[in-house]
Amino acid sequence: VRATSRFSPVGKVQSVSTMADGDENLGSVKQILEMLFAQSIRLTVPDETEVAPIITPCKDLRHGDYQCNNAMSLFARIRGRVPQYSNPPSVGQAIMNNIPTSEIIESSRIAGPGYVNVVLSRKWMAKRIHKMLKDGIETWAPKLPVKRAVVDFSSPNIAKEMHVGHLRSTIIGDTLARMLEFSNVEVLRRNHVGDWGTQFGMLIEYLFETFPDWEVASGQAISDLEAFYKASKQRFDADPEFKERAQQAVVSLQGGEERYRKAWAQICEISRKEFKKVYERLGVHLEEKGESFYNPFIPKALDLLNKEGLIEESEGARVIFVEGISRPLIVVKKDGGYNYASTDLTALWYRLNEEKAEWIIYVTDVGQREHFEMFFTAAKRAGWLPAEADKYPKVNHVGFGLVLGEDGKRFRTRSSEVVKLVDLLDEAKNRCKTALIERGKDKEWTEEELEQTAEAVGYGAVKYADLKNNRLTNYTFNFDQMLNDKGNTAVYLLYAHARICSIIRKSGKEIEELKRVGTVALEHPDERVLGLHLLQFPEVVEEACTNLLPNVLCEYLYNLSEDFTRFYTNCQVVGSAEETSRLLLCEATAVVMRKCFHLLGITPVYKI
Ligand code: ARG
Repeated sequence: VRATSRFSPVGKVQSVSTMADGDENLGSVKQILEMLFAQSIRLTVPDETEVAPIITPCKDLRHGDYQCNNAMSLFARIRGRVPQYSNPPSVGQAIMNNIPTSEIIESSRIAGPGYVNVVLSRKWMAKRIHKMLKDGIETWAPKLPVKRAVVDFSSPNIAKEMHVGHLRSTIIGDTLARMLEFSNVEVLRRNHVGDWGTQFGMLIEYLFETFPDWEVASGQAISDLEAFYKASKQRFDADPEFKERAQQAVVSLQGGEERYRKAWAQICEISRKEFKKVYERLGVHLEEKGESFYNPFIPKALDLLNKEGLIEESEGARVIFVEGISRPLIVVKKDGGYNYASTDLTALWYRLNEEKAEWIIYVTDVGQREHFEMFFTAAKRAGWLPAEADKYPKVNHVGFGLVLGEDGKRFRTRSSEVVKLVDLLDEAKNRCKTALIERGKDKEWTEEELEQTAEAVGYGAVKYADLKNNRLTNYTFNFDQMLNDKGNTAVYLLYAHARICSIIRKSGKEIEELKRVGTVALEHPDERVLGLHLLQFPEVVEEACTNLLPNVLCEYLYNLSEDFTRFYTNCQVVGSAEETSRLLLCEATAVVMRKCFHLLGITPVYKI
């Protein structure tokens, strides 16, 4: 999913002068450079087609801001055919000479085996930042090659507690959805709730047995759903006669018998209310289309797969064999019932054909990887999806690792129960509140402000501690660490942002007025580094979206606050000759930080 495909180097290069002077909102700085270099490469080697410019930010800013790394591979392609290019640096030199003149690049230089290092124009950088301040951060939204996506996330199971795994899915999925939405992709946020398993047989049977008056009393009877689940499971395991009845109940439910449907609906409703509380606290909204939703479409979807010759008989079940995986994907069980895989294949069909999604993203723990791989492969074999991984419509499984406790084992409570989500959030908030009171904030602020700040910081800390890790790695849940106000934590970052807001407030200047009459300058080296970092925001979001890695954005945010600190330490803001420009730079940093918080699902605070 290279958004650069819009800038296809051959035949579609836009007029560079229009791009450079007029439409400055054309993607990220990286995309603009890609366009310039595409043009240059085309001039350098007119016979070569499909050469995508390789542009990366320079690791060491002493070499330049960005570099183009095409010379080496290009030389390998044309070697011997084009006599004037005798080695990679000569190709690099030609690429450099052919860069169209623009106001963007100040200077460029060849280094090493043919890298073209470019230094951006300070003036252009400053103008671009100022323009963003005036027109809004939305004008920096990256451009992605998809219009509509499904993000399938959170997806807890009815009658079971939402646990930390679901917390990870909820916050990772929400962030991905937010980043795509910011990039102007329409996102269908889907809660694929497990509301149709065989567990309902035992739940319903137990409900009937224990509460004959369930129709009026079920709300009360199963108010503690988890306990209810446990009790019915115990009954199920202990008594074969009950087990049989429970299995029969599944058939009755699936056959649509009214009493069973009604009991099922009541159980789901009670669960739903519990889930809703968690979503409200986390500020996450999503639309439930649970497993049961797809149920009516299963026969049709399986029929399509059958017509493609994919479904075979094996040991009484109907299965799909998938290359490279020894066990087949069961789509109809021996007893004729459907399962997780039949539902997922059907949901995929529905999302592609009814909802016209071009990108479908599933967020679950890595333990489910094989399940996704299997039904993705089946869908490719059926021709529902293109065989190539980078073509659309596209599916991705976004896997994540475990949350560990201090002992390095799976995160549990002391009595080795599954940790409840709400309890974690409560504790994070309470700890933050205590810390704020210790700093005397209860005397300065209203009770409401205290509550709101404790919530923003506490919930933000839990989210950030999760998101800052590469999602595939396991991480250790540690309150002390995530609530530390130093280091790479939400607390530190939220405070850093609040501090910037207070600098602006205390200056006594009206920022809207400064935007109108002032200009941004990036003369001091630390101003320039900060400015460059700000300008890289769009391409970082693009990368985080493309690779489905929220930690990329966290890293960016942390580095940004470090760059700001260096700037603020070395450049006097209030009372200096550069006050206006520097206040605008403060504001731009605050705006970008706030957008990062927003994309990470964290509520910013404005005072500390
Ligand atoms: N309910 C499942 C679980 O808790 C996750 C569902 C994920 N989505 C999907 N389309 N399979 O493990």
